[in-house]
Amino acid sequence: MATTAHRGTWGSKAGFILAAAGSAVGLGNIWGFPTQVGQGGGAVFVLIYLACVLFICLPIMVAELVIGRRAQLDPVGSFSLIRPGSNWWLVGVLGVLAGAGILSFYSVIAGWSLAYIWFTASGAVSPDAVGAFFGDFTANGPLSIGLTLVVLGATAAVLVGGVQSGIERVTKVMMPALIGLLLILAIRAATLPGAAAGLTYYLKPDFSRILDPAVINAALGQAFFSLSLGMGAMLTYGSYLSKRESIVTAACWVVALDTGMALLAGFIIFPSGFSIEGFDPSAGGPGLIFAVLPRLFATLPGGQLVGAAFFILLTMAALTSTISLLEVPVAHFIDVHKWTRRKAVLLVTTGVFLLAMPSALGNGAVGALGNLPGLGVDFMTMMGTVWNDFALPIGGLLTAVFVGWVWRVDQAIEEVELHGASFPARRLWSVLIRYVCPVAISVIIVYTIVS
Ligand code: PFF
Repeated sequence: MATTAHRGTWGSKAGFILAAAGSAVGLGNIWGFPTQVGQGGGAVFVLIYLACVLFICLPIMVAELVIGRRAQLDPVGSFSLIRPGSNWWLVGVLGVLAGAGILSFYSVIAGWSLAYIWFTASGAVSPDAVGAFFGDFTANGPLSIGLTLVVLGATAAVLVGGVQSGIERVTKVMMPALIGLLLILAIRAATLPGAAAGLTYYLKPDFSRILDPAVINAALGQAFFSLSLGMGAMLTYGSYLSKRESIVTAACWVVALDTGMALLAGFIIFPSGFSIEGFDPSAGGPGLIFAVLPRLFATLPGGQLVGAAFFILLTMAALTSTISLLEVPVAHFIDVHKWTRRKAVLLVTTGVFLLAMPSALGNGAVGALGNLPGLGVDFMTMMGTVWNDFALPIGGLLTAVFVGWVWRVDQAIEEVELHGASFPARRLWSVLIRYVCPVAISVIIVYTIVS
């Protein structure tokens, strides 16, 4: 087995859990989840989402962590170490590419969030023109590029520090701050006029949509993205996990924190949204947080402060996710190509920045570069579709098949149970990873392609 002394490890179990939860909690929770709830018909989406998280994503989270901890390498190295001479390393390649691909548009949106800290704090957004303000702002390509550069630069600076003094140190501070801020905002939102209607929408399911395939499809995709699964991010973080830690407890913590934060975001967005006249929860898009919320903040007493706090929180959540997205390709170049961490961070960040250009430029006047002629789709939307809707579910499916049928579950269980760690419900996990996950994900992928 490869020696890993040079790679770094987590300093503590809490450090690992917070870093992995930091990867999971991001724009996907605070922006994506409420948006999807709005489009999926409210509480019924929440119910399906919870089922996907429990029966599909939690078992895959355990599988990814187990592969990473067994091999103690990046995704490409891990698959080839466990099945040498096979083509399974290609699943790792898919993960490395997905890391760079997702980061290229994710960092653009994180940059917008960064700018909105200033816009809300300074009162620059007029309550009557939030939509136009957002449009003008994102049309400014050079500004979007500059903001993306700041986000990528901050991410790279953390990664140069390595696993313990970089990733772990930063996320250990950010995550508790994030939870605290979300709680304060949720309490504030619950006291707004109209909050009750928002809470009813969010919590009372309309069962007529429970079998709607589009809703089920969206819920599974959202769960994958939100939990950072299907692209080796959890595998990579698991590779820095000590052989003495319990993988199952860690996975449960990460899933609970991520799901709790997404639910909490709903408790902020829906009561806030419904307190605005004419609010349409199904409108979706960036508008939900970049247009609806600033309007709410602008009309609140102390709204500039609350708004700035919200966007600080969103930027922090996005940063702990960009850190993990960048770490996947960085770990690959360190482990497989033997680059130094510094060189890997510098070159991968530069590559991602170039790839981010069309997404940053694609939203406005300078957007000729970013629009795909003849497709009627902007570059950022296309990237989201390629990576989120296809690469992640396919990566998750292949991971489940690999652990369930190729490496085999008893090997994985042996790794989990090292040093006497317990594996509660391991029979159930075996069934889920061998049968339920592959079948359910295949159905979703086929459905996505057909539709
Ligand atoms: N889970 C992150 C979010 O919800 O915003 C996004 C993400 C991070 C996806 C890392 C994939 C990943 F590897």
